[in-house]
Amino acid sequence: MTLFKHHNEFAALRKSSTDKGLGLVPTMGALHQGHLSLIERASNENEEVLVSIFINPTQFDAPSDLLRYPTELEADLSKINALNPNCLVYAPQAEDLYGSSVAAKTYDFGLLNQVMEGAHRKGHFQGVATVVEKLFRIFQPQRAYFGEKDFQQLQVIKQLVQQAQLDVEIVSCPIVRTAVGLALSSRNQLLTPSAQNAALELYAALKAAKTLWQQTPYAASLEHIKKRFDQHPEISLEYFEIREETTLEIFDPKHHQHPRAFIAAQLGKIRLIDNLALEKAIPLQHANRSC
Ligand code: PAF
Repeated sequence: MTLFKHHNEFAALRKSSTDKGLGLVPTMGALHQGHLSLIERASNENEEVLVSIFINPTQFDAPSDLLRYPTELEADLSKINALNPNCLVYAPQAEDLYGSSVAAKTYDFGLLNQVMEGAHRKGHFQGVATVVEKLFRIFQPQRAYFGEKDFQQLQVIKQLVQQAQLDVEIVSCPIVRTAVGLALSSRNQLLTPSAQNAALELYAALKAAKTLWQQTPYAASLEHIKKRFDQHPEISLEYFEIREETTLEIFDPKHHQHPRAFIAAQLGKIRLIDNLALEKAIPLQHANRSC
């Protein structure tokens, strides 16, 4: 594993003589098994792998969230090294990416930036897109790896690649969960033990939606799921929505094919998100018919 802090060191550090087969795994560090699964996949699919570790200030809407974000570079480096000792790791200071002006660009991602995370975290996706575009332009990877836990982010990045005409394949990788179903997130380590327990309710609600979705009209199943949180002492639900997964339009079985349930909730000071693909709902008259 080779660490570098200035992007202009990259060319000299590249091992392969061609400019083919670079896989980029952008992260903000505090690496968990979810990140490691991206690095592993990138290592299998590319000649060289570059992991970036940078807590991007322009994507945090709340300064307290940025301050609280875990930093553990030494531990991250040894995890990467154990997985792929040939990895290059770029861990810059903000100035190396942003120069003297640490500010987000303005993009128009339409609905992708207007709902759910876009609505609740103002400016978040502008910041994400800004730093991801910088990384793509500087390192010009052939492939870049992102986890589906941040499913909306994935759609925004795909849109960014189209709009900015960037020549990079976006590889989406499945959510990694604990044995009891909690989606891995660097924020999980900030949860109190009782909030960790309460957090299991997020995945439980998604799974309940998957079951209900087949049997109950859309609005009723949403109401039913939301009610689970009404009296919950530790969870404040921000949203629970079922949307078409690529456009993020509210799912309408007449027009859409790929429903996905999305949830965001606050547990104490920590905000968690999760999502789950649902099967396309069977129209009720068919569902009730016996075979
Ligand atoms: O998903 C993340 O960790 C961040 O949003 C990303 C893509 C590394 C950009 O800072």
